[in-house]
Amino acid sequence: MIVKDKERFKPVSSLFGIFIRPAQAQCDLPKAQFEGKRSIQRCINDLLAKLEETDKYTVNHSKEVAEISELFARKLNLPEDKVEKVKQAALLHDVGKIDIPEKILNKPKSLCPEELTVIQEHSQLGAEKISTKYPELKELIPAIMAHHEHWNGAGYPAKLSKTQIPIESRIISIADTYHAMRGRCYRKSASVHESCKTLLEGAGSQWDPILTDKFVKLVLTNQI
Ligand SMILES: [Fe+2]
Repeated sequence: MIVKDKERFKPVSSLFGIFIRPAQAQCDLPKAQFEGKRSIQRCINDLLAKLEETDKYTVNHSKEVAEISELFARKLNLPEDKVEKVKQAALLHDVGKIDIPEKILNKPKSLCPEELTVIQEHSQLGAEKISTKYPELKELIPAIMAHHEHWNGAGYPAKLSKTQIPIESRIISIADTYHAMRGRCYRKSASVHESCKTLLEGAGSQWDPILTDKFVKLVLTNQI
């Protein structure tokens, strides 16, 4: 099969627009529900602004991971509220990096084991920050906490496996890796074919095998 190489992901021009529905649609929402959505949007914007102060790359990466995750969730025919949750959790999946020292976060050389351990704390740090300061986002905590868990139980922080890992996290994990390979700015990007090959090699160990298979099929048919 000839795989047509895609353009690298373009920056999301107006991320926050994705939460803003046409005025008429918003008017149709009950007032409490509309206020709730606005409040969630404000919290997400606030957290991303804080993350951007130290780690602009991660913010841009997270926006694009959110775009891929949302599209994938839609292709999986998940209900709309679940799709929304996938998108919001993807936007904030690395928000715990706010509390990682900048000298480790932006270290140009490879990290020593101790530094790697510190970096790996970001899943829990993100969950803790939301739990203590952004209760409006508490529904996103399990998905954020588990975005580095592996299907075979070898991930972190809780060593969850298979369907113990929330589906939102399993989707984000695939989109996160795919975008990191395709859109990385610090070294040469992998081709679509190379990226899909890597995902398939890790299907059943790192990633949910059924979701990975679906994702790769969607990518290779230009639906993602
Ligand atoms: Fe992460």
